[in-house]
This record gives sequence, C-alpha cells and structure tokens, in this order.
Amino acid sequence: MQLEGNCLSASGGDWPIDGGIVRFRSSDGYNATFAKQWKAFQLTQYDEYNKTALTRNRFLKETGWPASGLDGQLILEAGCGAGRFTRLLAGTGAKVLSFDYSSAVEVSREQNGSFPNVAFAQADILAMPFADGSFDRVFCHGVIQHTPDPAAAFQALNRVLRRGGLLSFDVYHRDGRIRPWKSKYLWRPITTRMNPDRLLSFLEWFIPKWLPIDTIIKRIPLLGNYLGAVIPCWNYFFTDLEPADKVRWAIMDTFDALAPTYDLPVTRSEVVKWFRSAGYTNFEVHEGGTGLVGNGTKP
Ligand SMILES: C[S@@+](CC[C@H](N)C(=O)[O-])C[C@H]1O[C@@H](n2cnc3c(N)ncnc32)[C@H](O)[C@@H]1O
Repeated sequence: MQLEGNCLSASGGDWPIDGGIVRFRSSDGYNATFAKQWKAFQLTQYDEYNKTALTRNRFLKETGWPASGLDGQLILEAGCGAGRFTRLLAGTGAKVLSFDYSSAVEVSREQNGSFPNVAFAQADILAMPFADGSFDRVFCHGVIQHTPDPAAAFQALNRVLRRGGLLSFDVYHRDGRIRPWKSKYLWRPITTRMNPDRLLSFLEWFIPKWLPIDTIIKRIPLLGNYLGAVIPCWNYFFTDLEPADKVRWAIMDTFDALAPTYDLPVTRSEVVKWFRSAGYTNFEVHEGGTGLVGNGTKP
C-alpha cells in the first residue's frame, strides 16, 4: 500500500507523506553523502543479495535480540540507510517505524515497503517528533557518530524509549590507540571538502585497480595493516564475499569513511556515562559493531 497525503498529530503537527514516507524533514542536509551512498549501493549490504549472513550475524550478536517472536512490540529504527537492518527488524514480527535523516530512506522503502509491519519516515534523531516513551525497543546501529552530537543522540533515543524498553546502538570507538583504519582522519580534511560526486567517481575508478595491490600489502604479516593504511581502502579480503562484492564493498565503505560530514568517535567511559546519567543500571558496553556496542534496559 502506498500512503500519500498528510500525517497529523494530536499536538497539531502536520507533515506530508510522500512516496509512502512521512516527511518530518525534507532535505538531505548534512547527510547528502549518505543519500548518495545508499542510492549507489542499494542492495550491496543485503544478505540475500551478497549471499552471506554478515548483517544477520551482526544484528543477532550485537543486539542479543531474537530474529522472530516480537509480535505486539513497537520498534524504532533510527538511521536506516538502505535498510539492511530494517529487513531483519521486519522479520521479528514487531511493528517497526524506520527512519533516516536523508532521502536514503527511499531506498529502504523501495526494498522493504512490502512488509505490512514497517512504516517509513524521514526525520532527525535530534528532532524526533515522537512522544516520550513511545517505543518498546530502539535500534540505532552505524549512526550516532555521524550526527553533530552523539551524546545528544543517545539522550534523544532514550527519551522515546518506554521504561523497561530495550536500547541497542553502536558508535565509533575513540580508544586512544594507533589503529590502521584511523588514517582516514588524515585524509578527511581533504575528502570531506571534495564534491561527493567526484569523490565517488574517483573511488569507482581507483578502488578496482588498487584493491588487488592493497590485498597483497594487507596480507604481509604484522606490518601489512599499517602499510595498507597509507592509502585508505576498506578491504574485505578476509570475508567470504564474492570477488565482485568485495570490490563494491571496498568502494562503498571507503566512501563511507571519507565522505560523511560528521565522524565523531567516543570513548568507552563516555558511553558508560551516558547510560549512568540516564539512570540505567542494567546495561553493557562491548567492542563490536562499528566500534562500541551499547545495550541497555531503560529503568
Ligand atoms: C553508516 S549509515 C548506517 C545505515 C544503517 N544503519 C546500516 O547500518 O546499514 C548512517 C546513516 O545515519 C543517518 N543519519 C545520520 N545522522 C542522522 C540523524 N541525525 N538522524 C537520522 N539519521 C541520521 C545517515 O543519513 C545514514 O543513512
């Protein structure tokens, strides 16, 4: 069913529904690079498409949530991108409200619009028009480091979660260690100022040529990862992706590392402080996902 018209709220809100998506905001704003990324790589990370279980395994391992049996619950997915996790959330049987800041949500709507239990919106985590305590579960993976204020994003997600509800998120980890992938921070002052179309075109040209060389370098014992960090290339040689998918993932994730406006990692103690300040006693923070994963039950 394709919803069109307007979405009205009891508090007087009136938002257009366009293409089956409630538009609480209408432009891509600072997430224009993600709109571009997810329109260029619509299916790349869908397990069914790349014939792996990478996304499913990450979802199950990092959230601890079940793959099914959540009928009757209401889940909020914040920052859905192209919607690979939306598909898994749809499979839980819960009702899912899935949104992204940018028009990337159109890609997810295209891929997941046939699930009767999923609704789509374009909205900002930092300005969600949802009442306090609306959701049984809040899922937000791969997102809050790309907002201008990760701590405020945590607070906003916590606000819309009901007492006793489950929050699951991840965030880039600022661990103070020298890590090969951190060389992106040397390049980002240049790449974030580039025209994103040009950057993506360059990577589409360069990565397929560079990837075989990068793979040889990264296989050198001990030093390989550091030598391979000089030129950023997100290389998935260690996965069971097909060769063509390895190239697509490398282009996609190198762009994902170099292009976004915001890339704000946080420390483990900051994440623990977020939970404690919000009154959580039942929570855990572990390394995983895109850095640190936080799971908690709202008091
Ligand atoms: C790296 S992508 C992750 C997408 C998806 N969660 C996944 O893991 O496949 C980050 C997404 O967060 C979205 N995003 C960034 N800031 C946001 C905000 N303030 N509100 C909602 N979404 C936001 C971006 O538009 C982008 O699609």
